[in-house]
Amino acid sequence: MAAGATPDIYDEVVDKLIESGEIKIWKAEEIVNNLRTRKEIPVPEVAEEVAKKPLASGSGKVILFGEHAAVYGSHVIAAPISIAIQAKVEDEDDGIHLVIPRWGVEERLHMDVEHKHSIYRSLDLIINTLGLREKDMRIEIYPHVPRAMGLGGSAALAVAIIRALNAHYKLNLSDEDVNQLSYQSEQIVHGTPSGIDNTMATFGKFILFRRGDPPLMNPIEVPKPIPLVIGITGVESLTARMVANVRQAWEKNKPMYDKIFNEINGLTLQALETIQKFDLERLGDLMNINQGLLNALQVSSWELEELIEIARKTGALGAKLTGGGGGGAMIALCPDLENAEKVASAMRKSGYRAMVSEIGGKPEDRKG
Ligand code: MEV
Repeated sequence: MAAGATPDIYDEVVDKLIESGEIKIWKAEEIVNNLRTRKEIPVPEVAEEVAKKPLASGSGKVILFGEHAAVYGSHVIAAPISIAIQAKVEDEDDGIHLVIPRWGVEERLHMDVEHKHSIYRSLDLIINTLGLREKDMRIEIYPHVPRAMGLGGSAALAVAIIRALNAHYKLNLSDEDVNQLSYQSEQIVHGTPSGIDNTMATFGKFILFRRGDPPLMNPIEVPKPIPLVIGITGVESLTARMVANVRQAWEKNKPMYDKIFNEINGLTLQALETIQKFDLERLGDLMNINQGLLNALQVSSWELEELIEIARKTGALGAKLTGGGGGGAMIALCPDLENAEKVASAMRKSGYRAMVSEIGGKPEDRKG
């Protein structure tokens, strides 16, 4: 958006930016200019309109350590990524309309009926809880977080919608209210979420988290940003299904699975110390061990393993799946940005999408 990408071309700009591997403002500006020339889109009015009314947003995330075990009370370390889901609400006649240009969705919602798709059930919950059932509105969504890729898309969607409704109807919701309601939405979408995804979508901070009432949410400070590559398998996988599979396996052998969750918890706490000392080599080792334990939970996949192998062979210090697994995305920890570019390019050569990113540190020092 800082490069002047308006909602009509935003998705295309993000796609081209990721494709180019140069997640930088100057690159985004170049792409915006090219698209404008091609489509002959008038610049000033549209850009001003967006500047006047910033879109509400929910942040995407990566989990560095502790997914799945988090559901059973283990600690988890997560960081926000620079892609988000955005939404806006406008007045409209005749009911509630949902428009998601990227997914080809444009429809009038039927409220309070048995919806099959969880996004509609989540919308029902949000609109009813906020007492907006009788309003006529148009909800527009710009989903820049890829769907079902383990990057927190469903929670980011709920947060973006809640914030857009909050802004339009001046509901005075605090971030805590947004977090609570998006947690309820996650319960519809995921069944038994730990609360990490809605927390990340709402607050977008690098944190150590543990489920509870209230949950633990400690910010993590690092002296400088940590270089990371996010590799995307392109295979959609529902976190709800992966969490349910792990639960089934746990039911059959609780002592064994509890041991694995405990190991992951210990590893996550060691990783916290290692991050604070900025010992990236050791952090990479811990990521590899975490991946081994996730394999024990059987949440990896063919494509994830290929991406992990590519990353390790190209010099990454460690690599693991991130989020629910079974497809979705993985992360690779790199010694520096130069190596990160190499890793991302090796992944792209094998037909995958990859993004170079940096987490933690001061925002002005960070890339992606
Ligand atoms: C999903 O991003 C993380 C899981 O641990 C589920 C959860 O904690 O809710 C797989």
